[in-house]
Amino acid sequence: MSAVSTNVIPIRWNDATNEIVWLDNSQIPWEERYISSREPERLIKAIQKLEIRGAPVLGEAGAYGAAMIVNNSLNSNEDILRNVVQKGDVLAASRPTAVNLSWGVRIIQSAVKKAIDDGKNPSEVKAVALDSAKKIQEDNIRATYQLGENGKELIHDGDVIITVCNAGTLACDGLGTATAPLRAAWADGVQFRVLATYTAPLYQGARLTAWELHKDNIPVQVITDNMAGHLMREEKATSVWAGADRILSSSSDESGTIYNKIGTFGLALMAHELGVKMYVAAPTSTIDPSSKVRDVKIEQRKASEVEALFGGTIVVPKGVGVLNPAFDRTPPEYVSAIITEIGTARAPYGESIPALLKNPRSMVKT
Ligand code: MRU
Repeated sequence: MSAVSTNVIPIRWNDATNEIVWLDNSQIPWEERYISSREPERLIKAIQKLEIRGAPVLGEAGAYGAAMIVNNSLNSNEDILRNVVQKGDVLAASRPTAVNLSWGVRIIQSAVKKAIDDGKNPSEVKAVALDSAKKIQEDNIRATYQLGENGKELIHDGDVIITVCNAGTLACDGLGTATAPLRAAWADGVQFRVLATYTAPLYQGARLTAWELHKDNIPVQVITDNMAGHLMREEKATSVWAGADRILSSSSDESGTIYNKIGTFGLALMAHELGVKMYVAAPTSTIDPSSKVRDVKIEQRKASEVEALFGGTIVVPKGVGVLNPAFDRTPPEYVSAIITEIGTARAPYGESIPALLKNPRSMVKT
């Protein structure tokens, strides 16, 4: 399969040092800095400071973090189990909205419990945890390629595509999620251009998506968030491509509800009004089969992110309050299609998502 690649590895396990190594997303585009640690507390700090971010990579971080907790434990199954449950739960809760983080931790916790139940010794249990985490990353990467193949047919010559936040390699590994169909279509020779929205207050669109697409020579221009409606109409945008931090599927009326970076809902409303397609690309690990809207916590971040431009110039008068929700909720009626690694779901999502999960339509070999 041909597809452009950024050659970026957002996170990995270092076998020589038993550390997790990650590319610090908070410093791009100024510096490509890798950080490594074997301390769960440092990993949590990295997640909360968005050095490590984006739903699928958070899933990998959760899995590697849990494996690291296991690896740091004494050579006793009792100590391993206590740590992976207690410290793993703290890690899983370190960012609340993306379901993938707790998903990654839970997989390792279950693998460890099963290995202990199967009578494995502590060294074997540690190996099981690490192998499971590595497999999660391999599967994640493979899913992005499959997702790219599944979504590329929705991109056509002459398209003008709007993106939000960063759902690229930095956030998802491999080809990214929202960027995967773009990369796959571009590799096939489809000519289009991208308008990447700033995504204030942390500018993941400007700093990260533009950085990735520019590296791949895909035409990209950055726009501020408040230009989106005007430019969607004037530049004749054809589609908005977003990732997702959580996709609900527990009930027929809420299935297809998308939680994603703040700004996604506004773009979806504008797209709906202007007849522009609203596509959401995400791996099936982002589908949450158990939560309802009332259960999902939208992360509220520090006021200082809004008060000052990326930690620099203060733009809000002293004493004035701010709000800083990091994510928003887009109802399913504004979503044209949800593209996953196993196929594409369309409304009514209460039927199409369960059907897709039961009977994957388009598995693509890498
Ligand atoms: O706060 P962030 O940077 O972790 O938010 C990331 C996003 O909202 C992405 O769009 C999302 O995780 C979907 S794809 C990675």
